[in-house]
Amino acid sequence: MDKFLIDGPSKIKGKVSISGSKNASLPILAATLLFDLPVTIKNLPRVKDISTMLNLLKSLGSKVELSKDKKIAKISNPKNMKTFASYSLVKTMRGSILVLGPLVAKLHKSKTSLPGGCLIGARPVNYHLSALEKLGMNYEIKDGYIIAKSNGKLKGAVIKFPKISVGATENSIIAACLAKGKTVLKNCAIEPEIKDLTNFLNLAGAKIEWIGRTCTINGVNSLKSINYSVMADRIEAGTFCVAATLSKGSLEINNLDPKIISTELNLLKKTGAKINKNKNKISIKGPEKIKPIKNIKTKEFPGIPTDLQAQLMVLMCRANGKSSITENIFENRFMHVAELQRLGANITIKNNKAFIDGNTKFIAAELMSSDLRASVALVLAASVANGKSIINRIYHLDRGYEKIENKLKNIGIKIKRLKK
Ligand code: UD1
Repeated sequence: MDKFLIDGPSKIKGKVSISGSKNASLPILAATLLFDLPVTIKNLPRVKDISTMLNLLKSLGSKVELSKDKKIAKISNPKNMKTFASYSLVKTMRGSILVLGPLVAKLHKSKTSLPGGCLIGARPVNYHLSALEKLGMNYEIKDGYIIAKSNGKLKGAVIKFPKISVGATENSIIAACLAKGKTVLKNCAIEPEIKDLTNFLNLAGAKIEWIGRTCTINGVNSLKSINYSVMADRIEAGTFCVAATLSKGSLEINNLDPKIISTELNLLKKTGAKINKNKNKISIKGPEKIKPIKNIKTKEFPGIPTDLQAQLMVLMCRANGKSSITENIFENRFMHVAELQRLGANITIKNNKAFIDGNTKFIAAELMSSDLRASVALVLAASVANGKSIINRIYHLDRGYEKIENKLKNIGIKIKRLKK
């Protein structure tokens, strides 16, 4: 397994270009299963989760033609598509569950593996299943698989999600596109990645409208062939903004509409960062003294994303005083804390709240990645620590950050991949 060697401390300076969004690409790729005609998806990030989704589509019979740089995929579906999403593909990435809705909507049956838990929480799929059931999907769980079918086309329904879920909203929207009649989804997630999915589907002829957290979908018979460019990755952009603030450096972040990370930028301003926004560019300069923030809380969009929680915790370790972070989305998303403590952090956890004593002088250590965002947080911490840190299990990072070490090297971080 590859490792990173990071020689700190370093100060960030330079420019970085943000890649396409992983979390927007995944549902858009899953939705291509609805199409009879070829679709072309552009600006895909070159990360492991995207190759997993493309492999899953191929295993279902889709023909995938990738451009040389692997950022453009032309996807065509033959008549005799398969409906089996195997455990070996689904277990490596929970986003794979997003093929369930389109398979049942288009082919009226599917055998899709249950994704199972992961380190950050149990992550059940009950909201996906009950929403699809209301649209007319029958299912049973057998040997770890969801065996699902529908009696012909799905039928529009009114569904209120008991809790806001990104994945369940996406699965239901995709499925409802080809359902008979009108579907009204209430209490939806409204993350920008979901809006990107509905833009894509509408451009292909779907009839989807939003009012607040309510999404209305009028079913259509088929979708038309289009080219679509996926939005930029707001979590990658947020991570680089935190990195610049943390290292008291200055960074120009290109290729992203600053509006989609306004909450994050407002929070960083409170820490003392100086931020300038243009149409597709953010310039950020870290303060000499990082101000602590008393009560950071993760929340569904437009709140602070849980996917930025670990990175913000590293920043608060270096702030000039006490702060706290409450994790409201996942029950077990503090795996990075024990590793940060090994670097010298002073953090106490009470239930879903972390209390952080600032002014930590991180000292290099050997560390272990646990999940995607925790791993990047360790990279950030190691980059401002004194000495050489080793970060193990960086395959987590490769799942979601495109060319992370090249991007970090270009802005002044001394990072090296040790191949095994
Ligand atoms: C997506 C993102 C992930 C992000 C998360 C929250 C993708 C591929 N992943 O994950 O990066 O951290 O949103 O912003 O886009 N839940 C249930 N039952 C369900 C579904 C969810 O109890 O059927 C719970 C989850 O355990 C969690 C909460 O609802 O506690 C929110 O999860 P959800 O929004 O569904 O996250 P994902 O779509 O899995």
